[in-house]
Amino acid sequence: MKILSAKNYEEMSMIAARMITEKVEADPKAVLGFATGGTPKGTYEKLVAAFKKGAVTFQQVTTFNLDEYVGLPPEHPNSYHTYMNEQLFNETNIPVGQRFIPNGLASDLQSEAADYEKQIQAHDGIDLQLLGIGKNGHIGFNEPGTVFTQRTHRVALTPSTRKANARYFESMAEVPTHALTMGIQTILESKEILLLAAGRHKAEAVYRLITGQQPDEQFPASSLYSHPNLTLIADEEALSLATTHDRSHFS
Ligand code: GLP
Repeated sequence: MKILSAKNYEEMSMIAARMITEKVEADPKAVLGFATGGTPKGTYEKLVAAFKKGAVTFQQVTTFNLDEYVGLPPEHPNSYHTYMNEQLFNETNIPVGQRFIPNGLASDLQSEAADYEKQIQAHDGIDLQLLGIGKNGHIGFNEPGTVFTQRTHRVALTPSTRKANARYFESMAEVPTHALTMGIQTILESKEILLLAAGRHKAEAVYRLITGQQPDEQFPASSLYSHPNLTLIADEEALSLATTHDRSHFS
């Protein structure tokens, strides 16, 4: 794991957006894996700005999102379909047929999950996957206890994740109880991973990630230790519990 320390959220977003645009410049047909949540919003904002300036085009890229809530129609204001449309898709030129997000309304979620995996494989896998991290170490919606060999599947959300995401909904009762998510195995097969973390509320998770060393299914982000090309881009607040000594064995 490589650690890039950013001054603040703004700088973290700039670094991540630059790494994504460089990837697309080097390989215009890159397959990009996208995440949702508060953390990558700044990155998307910067990608939109770069596109509007004519600094990058996304005409040939393909995108796969990590996850989607079960039971929310794509047009629901809190679906990850809507999130991606608002944050990135409506403002850039990624063709509709080249954007993939799991369908949380599928009547057969197991076959939807299997089809999603097939699509990823048909595109030769994901070149660059953007990831956030939950306070409990979840990645995508892979909650503590998830087996690391799992591929795209349906998950029950933990009370803490539902609570964390309740800020986007009118009431707790409206927060979906399940989601479809890429599995940890799917994520680990991405050729490159950018893991973003910002804010004091992520400091415990980042500390645990940096100091943990041993993979532990109770802390899903620790599955990433085995990844050969992982960059953690974190701001000073997220890194505030990890001393220079803790970080010293990373480049
Ligand atoms: C959600 C998403 C994750 C995201 C995480 C952290 O549950 N499924 O992909 O990384 O929460 O979200 P945030 O960036 O808002 O802290």
